[in-house]
Amino acid sequence: MYMIQTVGLTKRFGSFTANDHIDLAIPEKEITCIVGENGAGKTTLMNMLYGLLEPTEGEIRIRGSQVKLRSPIDAIANGIGMVHQHFKLVPSLSVYENILLGAEITKKGGLIDRKEEIRKVEELIHNYHFELNPLDKVEDISVGSRQRVEILKMLYRNVDILILDEPTAVLTPQEANDLIDRLKDLKEKGKTIIVITHKLREVMEVSDSVVVIKRGKVVGSMRTKDTSEQELAQMMVGRDVMLTVENDRRKVSDGGVIYQAENLTTINSFGKECLKNVSFQVARGEILGIAGVEGNGQSELVKIISGLMEATAGRVMFDGEDVTNIWPDKLRQKGIGIIPEDRFAQGLCRTMTLTENAVAGYHTQKEVCRGGLMNTKVMRQRRDSQIERFDIRVGDLEGTVGALSGGNAQKIIVARELSAGPKLLIACQPTRGIDIGSIESIHRQLLEYRNQGNAVILISSELPEIMSLSDRVIVLYKGEVTGEVDPTKTDMMQIGLLMAGITDKEAAQ
Ligand SMILES: Nc1ncnc2c1ncn2[C@@H]1O[C@H](COP(=O)(O)OP(=O)(O)OP(=O)(O)O)[C@@H](O)[C@H]1O
Ligand SMILES: [Mg+2]
Repeated sequence: MYMIQTVGLTKRFGSFTANDHIDLAIPEKEITCIVGENGAGKTTLMNMLYGLLEPTEGEIRIRGSQVKLRSPIDAIANGIGMVHQHFKLVPSLSVYENILLGAEITKKGGLIDRKEEIRKVEELIHNYHFELNPLDKVEDISVGSRQRVEILKMLYRNVDILILDEPTAVLTPQEANDLIDRLKDLKEKGKTIIVITHKLREVMEVSDSVVVIKRGKVVGSMRTKDTSEQELAQMMVGRDVMLTVENDRRKVSDGGVIYQAENLTTINSFGKECLKNVSFQVARGEILGIAGVEGNGQSELVKIISGLMEATAGRVMFDGEDVTNIWPDKLRQKGIGIIPEDRFAQGLCRTMTLTENAVAGYHTQKEVCRGGLMNTKVMRQRRDSQIERFDIRVGDLEGTVGALSGGNAQKIIVARELSAGPKLLIACQPTRGIDIGSIESIHRQLLEYRNQGNAVILISSELPEIMSLSDRVIVLYKGEVTGEVDPTKTDMMQIGLLMAGITDKEAAQ
């Protein structure tokens, strides 16, 4: 039986058609993956199934009957739950309070029955084998744990269909593996699951069937066992995609050190020293990768070098100047491009237009702003050249960034920072949420940028990305640099040991 069917489902935004007569058939008690390029229409489709968007045309059927989903409340009543990429939890509340938000259990007099609530949540956690403490505050738990809270929130409401929009994009590799196990387990327990992902390895590992969407239309629908990563990539992008990058490191010349961090140290909000005496150098024409398991200081290090957090001790020199603890706009003026980790919190302004975002951070440049007046002609030119160079898919050129798909929003940041012609680029998770065709293109552009004699500091939770692009890799463990490796002479296993804090000597024993 099909759990969900859509017939001719269509969504238009103005004159732009985001979903064009989509016919889906989602089998029950299976995992279906939805894949497609950035802007293909995946999130739009799922938002209609979750009652967040009203279809322009077409039908949705659940268990064979036609339904009208006017809101997520309707969707949940029909057994459909969704976990978004940007979580919607209340950070100051505990895990159990977030799960029960809007479904509180009360005693006779109307008071909240705290004991019963905790017991229910404990039971839920136990039944689904999730690792969580119901009393922890959400603001204190990891991204992976927050996602578990979101999933449990849906399971508590007894949904039997669970939609996850790019659930692994924000997870560390370990957390992603754990999520995949949990999803397989949920399927065993009879749930129907739909997962949007850009990671084809995950598609092959977790799904029973896969649907490919391209420019708003379904272009392929098959059993996973009958396809391959290469074929899916071909269908999505419409051409052969190289799943690995060719990095000709011989071209790199020693252009001399341009960036030097010396003994960077900092203390986090709990008063704990989370970075201790971190020193490294980057040369012109070099990509330095920074690897480490989440929570070992790379997040703080990136914040410090991008001007978002202060170092309590240490110094940073760039191109002969002291740039310790100066703000991001000043760093950009001096020639340091920054791709921040959180695209919406630090990289873009959702409510502003594409044109404004195309110069954000560079808006004080003479060419962009003179005598307090913005030069809209220059702004539009920059926007258009960024869109063309990075193949950014936009519905409305004059629209806001909020109307862009997740991956296209990320591409705006990469495009803006690279186009500004910095001498050093700090690239933090540069390809998060990006489709494989565009990853190939961004990787090529990063290598080309380096080959022109520029420097890059690359931070990524994707170890293969770090290994294939970097000329040198340093590893952070417990806030300290524990090793430096040559990625051409090191394998994933060795670097994995360093990331786990196991040095060569210990490994040999
Ligand atoms: N509220 C909106 N107003 C106008 N256009 C929109 C709106 N929401 C989405 N779009 C457009 O619809 C298209 C599909 O967007 P959608 O978010 O569904 O893509 P996606 O497949 O999820 O891509 P990604 O992989 O980047 O997340 C995009 O071109 C986007 O700009
Ligand atoms: Mg999306």
